Amino acid sequence: MKYDIKSLGLADAGKKKIEWAAKFMPVLGLIEKRFKQEKPLKGIKIAACLHVTSETANLARTLKAGGAEVYLCASNPLSTQDEVAASLVKHDNISVFAINGADNKTYYKHIKACLRPGLNMTMDDGCDLVSTLHKDERKFLKDVIGGTEETTTGVIRLRSMVRDGKLEYPVIAVNDSKTKHFFDNRYGTGQSTLDGILRATNYLIAGSTVVVAGYGWCGRGLANRAKGMGANVIVTEVDPLKGIEAVMDGFKVMPMSKAVREGDIFITVTGNIAVIRPEHFEKMKDGAIVCNSGHFNVELDLEALKKISKNVREVRPLVNEYNLRNGKRIIVLAEGRLVNLSCAEGHPAMVMDMSFANQSLAAEFLVNKASGMENKVYVVPEKIDARIAQLKLKSMSTSIDKLTPRQREYLASWQEGT
Ligand code: ADE
Repeated sequence: MKYDIKSLGLADAGKKKIEWAAKFMPVLGLIEKRFKQEKPLKGIKIAACLHVTSETANLARTLKAGGAEVYLCASNPLSTQDEVAASLVKHDNISVFAINGADNKTYYKHIKACLRPGLNMTMDDGCDLVSTLHKDERKFLKDVIGGTEETTTGVIRLRSMVRDGKLEYPVIAVNDSKTKHFFDNRYGTGQSTLDGILRATNYLIAGSTVVVAGYGWCGRGLANRAKGMGANVIVTEVDPLKGIEAVMDGFKVMPMSKAVREGDIFITVTGNIAVIRPEHFEKMKDGAIVCNSGHFNVELDLEALKKISKNVREVRPLVNEYNLRNGKRIIVLAEGRLVNLSCAEGHPAMVMDMSFANQSLAAEFLVNKASGMENKVYVVPEKIDARIAQLKLKSMSTSIDKLTPRQREYLASWQEGT
């Protein structure tokens, strides 16, 4: 087995972390149990580019239990939990290529290392693996039956590939399952982003003004969690519908050019580039904290910030203070990378349970159905989504009502009105 990790000596600490997360992933646990018996992924080589966390380790173990051969690399250089990577290698015999803090060159070297054994399926988070395969490693495309994609940004990139006629196999957008984005994007990003900011800075949220750029599922969750902790929340948007929604959810909505004068903490979750630019940094309050929870480190224009700064110094781990030429200081967290996974541990296992149940069942679905699918982006079938919701509710010891025959009949009829 090949691997490239920080140190095998970390494996025992990683094992404890993985076991801890497993306690909160009962739905994935049930799938793992069934996979062990039925081996639905037998002989399938999966190249997975995901955040290497304790939750992902439980997904990798589930895929392996299903008979897959798993090669795992990181989908972000700062999110890798080195002890988890070590445990997967030592205790589970899974090939991992991921080291926290890897530079860009090593990041892509690791992606290529995952492709080189050959593969039948991709499991991606952000589409870097899929784009590398389609651009630089095309010789490995021939045995690929399909893939899955975890996040909004990756799905957007995949849809661009379909539009340009470039995608060479079907991909299931796990992100678009209801049991994924309603929970992972909303409650996961909402909580873990604030967790990252707090662990990095120990700032008091109550009474502060938090500016959330982007009111998609992540932004909605984040704005609401910040409000719940006593922040005054401002939302910035480019989409009028989302703008109205944010207003009616009780938030102040304004352009970034205005918000910069009021905010204490700025968080981008737009999925777009250069959302906070030099003209914004210059007008912020002295000491403003700026970070990103969108997939890529492109939302804050840090190159431009450097140009308007006299110097930069690290004041706490992953906390950089930029001293601007105009005399103000701007505090940037995690070099503009995902703050929730860089400064904290990412989403809690309880939400990743549903996201990774979707991943596992999507992989199984592809084994059975990929041959009849086109080179397009698909969603997880509704039945699977509903089953995951059912199992999650059960794991929370919560039951719900059932439709009566009379109600079922009513919903199916068009004759009955007032
Ligand atoms: N994405 C966000 N949080 C995550 C986590 N805990 N593990 C894997 N991927 C994630």
